[in-house]
Amino acid sequence: MKNYKITLIKGDGIGPEIIDEAVKVLDAVASSSGFHFSYDEALMGGIAYDITGDPLPQETITKSLNSDAVLFGSIGGPQWDDLPREKRPESGLLRFRKELGVYANLRPAVVYDELINASSLKPEIIKGVDIMVVRELIGGIYFGEPKGRDENKGWNTMVYSREEIVRIAHQAFRIAQKREKRVCSIDKANVLDVSQLWRDTVIEVAKEYPDVELTHMYVDNAAMQLVLNPKQFDVMLTGNIFGDILSDEASMLCGSIGLLPSASVGEKIGVYEPIHGSAPDIAGQGIANPIATIASASMMLRYALGEVEAADKVDNSIKKVLSEGYRTGDLAQFDAKEVCSTSEIGSIIANYLER
Ligand code: IPM
Ligand code: MG
Repeated sequence: MKNYKITLIKGDGIGPEIIDEAVKVLDAVASSSGFHFSYDEALMGGIAYDITGDPLPQETITKSLNSDAVLFGSIGGPQWDDLPREKRPESGLLRFRKELGVYANLRPAVVYDELINASSLKPEIIKGVDIMVVRELIGGIYFGEPKGRDENKGWNTMVYSREEIVRIAHQAFRIAQKREKRVCSIDKANVLDVSQLWRDTVIEVAKEYPDVELTHMYVDNAAMQLVLNPKQFDVMLTGNIFGDILSDEASMLCGSIGLLPSASVGEKIGVYEPIHGSAPDIAGQGIANPIATIASASMMLRYALGEVEAADKVDNSIKKVLSEGYRTGDLAQFDAKEVCSTSEIGSIIANYLER
């Protein structure tokens, strides 16, 4: 029987609870599809700092690189906010992405018909929304030098090389070819030189994809257009910080940030993680929505392992649980038949798969 080696990084806050549900679902789909998973846990974030003094122990990188894929929960929490920057959980995550070379962060925002009333936007605006945000993940202002602060000043630098823009642009165009063949590249070329290079480079790469339509939008306008008329977007291609912001905004089209998965991919290995954070305010209460993590596990099946049928089964089970009215607390006001705990939602989805 085929066996896949998965590194699990549960992390902080609600991370352990949601990862446990994704594992439940993965085991269920594996047993009904004829393959098997073996899991190896690794530390990252605040818990890693507490145990080892480092938010990203070397062992975590080694384990991850030696597995078929990484499934990641969430990191961070108020108790680590006052640490020096390099010891903070977030720094561990950024170093992790960099070490693994996962430069392309794919964040789909799909509105489930079942949750059409859950968004703060009107149903007619969001019905049928299906956007893929392609976010550059290991460059830009998150990593640029120089950076620093003294008592009266703080500074970061947004840097992109041509090469970094080329590789993420190729990802966006290839993804668009399998979708509606439209890429909207988001920048701030009216103000930033780095954005002008971004725009010029994307235009060059586009020449290799004559079947894909390319448009450009300034990031401030894109933020507005996302809530005005989100259906105009197919693939949104953007840099690190703009993508961070726009993907949170896009998640609200869908009703809850607890629904949105992501894949971070590069040449070596993929990391699959919900786009939400560690939600320390609700950690340990068993009320977090595990669907974003379960959907991330589905992306892992599809993209990292090529188990497309199994991924389809998981996606269908997620839709079924929503259409039958099972909801976690974040979605309790929206056509809920039954409000469920984190582990109840996981078990219901897993049961569909075993049947
Ligand atoms: C995300 C998060 C991270 C980011 C944080 C936790 C460093 O917001 O994955 O979107 O900014 O990339
Ligand atoms: Mg974010």
